Amino acid sequence: MIKQHNNSDDQKNHDIVWHHATVTRARREAQNNHKAVNLWFTGLSGSGKSTLAHAVEERLHQMGCRTFVFDGDNVRHGLCSDLGFSLEDRSENIRRIGEMVNLFLQAGVIALTAFISPLKKDREKVRAIIGPDNYLEIHCACSLEICEQRDVKGLYKKARAGIIKNYTGISSPYEAPENPALRLDSGATPLEECVKQVISYLQEKQVIPS
Ligand code: ADX
Repeated sequence: MIKQHNNSDDQKNHDIVWHHATVTRARREAQNNHKAVNLWFTGLSGSGKSTLAHAVEERLHQMGCRTFVFDGDNVRHGLCSDLGFSLEDRSENIRRIGEMVNLFLQAGVIALTAFISPLKKDREKVRAIIGPDNYLEIHCACSLEICEQRDVKGLYKKARAGIIKNYTGISSPYEAPENPALRLDSGATPLEECVKQVISYLQEKQVIPS
């Protein structure tokens, strides 16, 4: 359940004025020699999102890019530690990440996000928050069978046994993207090949220099 925050101040948000920075996103991007974008990795648990996001980050870092990875398991220890796995809580999880990514884009950073983000409407919300040109959706298209075989964290087994409720792919839905920027067959394609495909895509879109 999302905790309700009591706010006795009825004027909240009314007396806040946006402060414009002199060091703008455009200036940061020029200094960095790359654009700021969000690589939004989506897919089932165990589909390779985090592994791939970190491998792409490693490559980009070596190329001199400013990067940061947001990972579901990590963010849920802090910023989103009050959230569970109901569809409502997942929506709030994704909304918060969208807002966080938006700030990182202003900071000129390539933000890589690895969240199951099972619902199309939540992913579309992120696209709307950060702007469609900034949102590059990457589907880690690995079948449930393979994810379950891998079962890196042993959670599928627990979900099948009913010990974990609302588990994506077992007892909670996953809506695959219909038209992602990139779809990677992360069940069969070697990691290095997936990294190559992402880097080539970023060069093709002139996010990073060729
Ligand atoms: S999301 O649906 O809100 O996008 P998120 O990516 O943050 O999920 O977290 C997914 C991770 O939480 C999984 O990789 C898994 O380790 C863990 N997890 C724990 N319970 C569940 C559950 N019921 N469904 C899916 N993942 C779960």
